[in-house]
Amino acid sequence: MCGIVGYIGQNPSKKILLDGLKELEYRGYDSAGIAVLEGDDFSIYKALGKLHNLEEKAHDFETHDFAIGIGHTRWATHGKPTELNAHPHLGQFSYVVHNGIIENYQELKSMLQSKGVTFLSQTDTEVIVHLFEHMLLTHKEPSEAFARTIEQLHGAYATLLITKQSPDTIYFAKHGSPMILAKNATHGEYFFGSSDAALIGKATQAYYLEDGDYGYVSPQGIVLKHANRTIENPAFTTLPSDRLSAQKEGFRYFMEKEIYEQSTVLADTLMGRLRDDSVYFEELAGLDTRRFSQIKLVACGTSYHSALTASYLFERLAKIHTTVEVASELRYREPLLDKNALFIVISQSGETADTLETLKMAKAAGLTTLVVCNVDNSSMVRLADYAILTRAGIEKGVASTKAFATQVTVLWMLSLFLSALPKERMQAEIATLRQLPETTKVSDTLHEKLKRLSKRYLYGHGFFFIGRDLFYPLALEGALKLKEISYLHAEGYPAGEMKHGPIALADPELITIALMPQTLLYEKTKSNVEELSARDATICAISPLEFDKSDDFIRTHAHAHPMLEFFEMMVILQLLAMEISIRLGNDVDMPRNLAKSVTVE
Ligand code: AGP
Repeated sequence: MCGIVGYIGQNPSKKILLDGLKELEYRGYDSAGIAVLEGDDFSIYKALGKLHNLEEKAHDFETHDFAIGIGHTRWATHGKPTELNAHPHLGQFSYVVHNGIIENYQELKSMLQSKGVTFLSQTDTEVIVHLFEHMLLTHKEPSEAFARTIEQLHGAYATLLITKQSPDTIYFAKHGSPMILAKNATHGEYFFGSSDAALIGKATQAYYLEDGDYGYVSPQGIVLKHANRTIENPAFTTLPSDRLSAQKEGFRYFMEKEIYEQSTVLADTLMGRLRDDSVYFEELAGLDTRRFSQIKLVACGTSYHSALTASYLFERLAKIHTTVEVASELRYREPLLDKNALFIVISQSGETADTLETLKMAKAAGLTTLVVCNVDNSSMVRLADYAILTRAGIEKGVASTKAFATQVTVLWMLSLFLSALPKERMQAEIATLRQLPETTKVSDTLHEKLKRLSKRYLYGHGFFFIGRDLFYPLALEGALKLKEISYLHAEGYPAGEMKHGPIALADPELITIALMPQTLLYEKTKSNVEELSARDATICAISPLEFDKSDDFIRTHAHAHPMLEFFEMMVILQLLAMEISIRLGNDVDMPRNLAKSVTVE
């Protein structure tokens, strides 16, 4: 995903910008660029691929005095990964970098083209710099022209702009994408970064810009505005100096950080893929989806649970016959692979040996293959015919959290992409997808409640996680999370299966985590939970509807769509597992016997 850096000061700008971009590399990108303005001279370098390509191109370039500069790593959304589409983008005498999506860029582009402006790239970003220069025709003051530009942008953005009209100033704005302004003790030196990873070690004080903030910075200081009001003395906070703890951003464990991050990474997963009444995957251009009569989903572990979730969505929304397989089983069972099936593998790492082998098998059998993956350039991404990246950013916790959330989101979008839903239904699904970032935000109240509850769940002879329909794979995932990091015995079951055997285990020492959404089979699930409660099992019910036969109750919001209930419950299960593990004194991020990437069979 894209990264932004910026610098104003006397120190060598190129090194500062490139160092900052290196710290943002982990987010994934396909091209990079920097633009530096020293006096009246712009130096601009862009390169496709990894940062060392950019470093080589800029090898002989150095600044000698005060300069301002902006840099960017681009993860293509509008327009292919090419040097021309790489940021920074040029107007006549200004450059811009941007993260996010300008939703009304076509409209702005047409307006500017009608005034004679020529566009070089296919990006949405380029409209910002041209609009700014257009605004300068009527507003002579660059800060005013910038403010009028920002006013006209719809969508999500974090942007930096530099211009020869004011060669000691960086203009900035943030709305929906992260941006941090930072400084240190050196007078007149300022930094920007889309994450504090780019700033640690260089700056000591950071101001995390709020949505709607904009302004400019020069050696004379900072002018920060919000809704036309100037914010005096913005509250800078101290940046951590230790990189590892900084990477955890104040969280106790990477897993905790990754659970909290789900809200923002999901916005990245959705970015550029939702239209008003359709879903768009640039990655699938050229794929004739009408020729598939079935879908086969293959994965391991958590990714298998995403696959299982997707099977409900593919059949329900896209009306395509779907089967799901555990990769290690499919490999050796001499399966009949039908060329009319779209073969989809799902993997966070893209390296899991069993899944990779099934991909090879499918390719050898002549099937069309697609991978849903979090790691660009991984073996599976390189091998599959098509790849959709989940854009979760690096996941360090061995227990997968944000990778699961982003996989399910991509697969839900894919089921809509393959569907022929009527317009209104499609619009409703898309409006629901847009609510995911909000739905997955962790509130202090919820986290505190789960911390308190966790002390009741450290013993017992086992856990059942139960749910129906989409909530059955979620129950499996909840049980896997708990088992992986608490080492307690936990199993996921379809709620309706209880009386076919597992209920024999019911007693007060058996803890049941019951997923009871109100939008999907509530009454049916309720009866199953009542059967367990009648046998004196300890019940923790998760539901928006009061349930008086439970020992503990976690109330969720009354969403209108099952997938919103799904995502809210997912966060609860992840946090509950983590808090239990912490109380048991386990290593949350590196549980015993497990590896993040399983490259052996
Ligand atoms: C999840 O918490 C696990 N650590 C594990 O099940 C994982 O999902 C599995 O090994 C598959 O990995 P992949 O997604 O990288 O292929």
